[in-house]
Amino acid sequence: MVERVCLVVGARPNFVKAYPLLRAFSEEEMEVSLVNTGQHYDAELCEVFFDELRIRDFVREINLKVGSGSHAEQTSRCIIQMERVLQREKPDVTVVIGDVNSTLAGALASIKTGIPVAHVEAGYRSFDLGMPEEVNRILVDHISQLLFSPTESSTMNLMIEGIPEDRIRFSGNVLIDSLVSVCENLGITPKNIDKEDYAVLTIHRPKNVDDPNRLREIVDAAKEIPIRVVFPIHPRTRERCAEFRVDLEGIEVRYPMGYMEFISLLARAKLVLTDSGGIQEEALFLGTPCLTLRENTERIETLISGGNLLVGANRERIIRVVSELSSPETVSPFIHSTLPS
Ligand code: UD1
Repeated sequence: MVERVCLVVGARPNFVKAYPLLRAFSEEEMEVSLVNTGQHYDAELCEVFFDELRIRDFVREINLKVGSGSHAEQTSRCIIQMERVLQREKPDVTVVIGDVNSTLAGALASIKTGIPVAHVEAGYRSFDLGMPEEVNRILVDHISQLLFSPTESSTMNLMIEGIPEDRIRFSGNVLIDSLVSVCENLGITPKNIDKEDYAVLTIHRPKNVDDPNRLREIVDAAKEIPIRVVFPIHPRTRERCAEFRVDLEGIEVRYPMGYMEFISLLARAKLVLTDSGGIQEEALFLGTPCLTLRENTERIETLISGGNLLVGANRERIIRVVSELSSPETVSPFIHSTLPS
């Protein structure tokens, strides 16, 4: 019987996914400690989510303040501090979410302290080991005792990798659970939203923003597509644009947004161009066509549904796909039905 839970969060996508879990733990009257590693420390990447989702109403927060650094530095600082917290808190189980460095650190510290690990959002695979998140996903799944898979394909991935079926539970997608609550608060009815004349752009993956060629190709495409582009810029991307002198003139650059503001922006957009994992799912739920600026995705259901296309980071291709989507011959009825005429 599980009475004491330690829930580990650290980066922006974790905070959103923690919300429905905290509510469920609270309903079950479990004793929860929320360990925030501090991987994301800026107010706009962290505090705003804690405030909007009223996370501290449910739970006591322990902040490890690990901050930024190389992957090894960030992950190892998290592991060392997590071990101390777990030895003190002695939870029955550590729950980790998603695929960020804090997820891996929390799982490793827990298993080495002899505390079982439950992984929420288990089984996603991009089959691209060049992505830091893919390495985190595989390692965490293989050391977790309980794996909560969001989709049928993620359950299949786990079984193909030899993870015993009795450790896997199909739970559905906690990001969408959170989104449903936010839509209710915003008065948004998904797929019945009046679209406005703009596209949203978000990029932050090292592959796209640490490579000046890919970064330039994406930014140039965004400038040339025939629709206004709103770009809430991630701090990492802002730093790289300055370093590589990438000119953002012609794009509406905004600071990173809180969850409510971003969902409201995404819901009303005619199109989103992104390299985020979660936004591919949120866009599908909100009926906003998504062009994913990557060569692969772990969210394959979004491709199968017709709401998402992989377009990579090639300027010409992105522009061509946007113009094809606006034409009546477009293959995907879903994408076509919501694009600008
Ligand atoms: C991390 C996750 C990624 C997730 C993303 C969401 C990993 C490996 N990556 O990427 O999966 O999609 O968060 O945002 O865990 N920075 C700030 N302020 C902050 C945090 C970061 O300015 O509060 C800057 C720092 O320069 C830092 C850089 O962003 O070096 C990268 O931050 P980091 O947490 O390492 O990775 P993200 O790119 O944010």
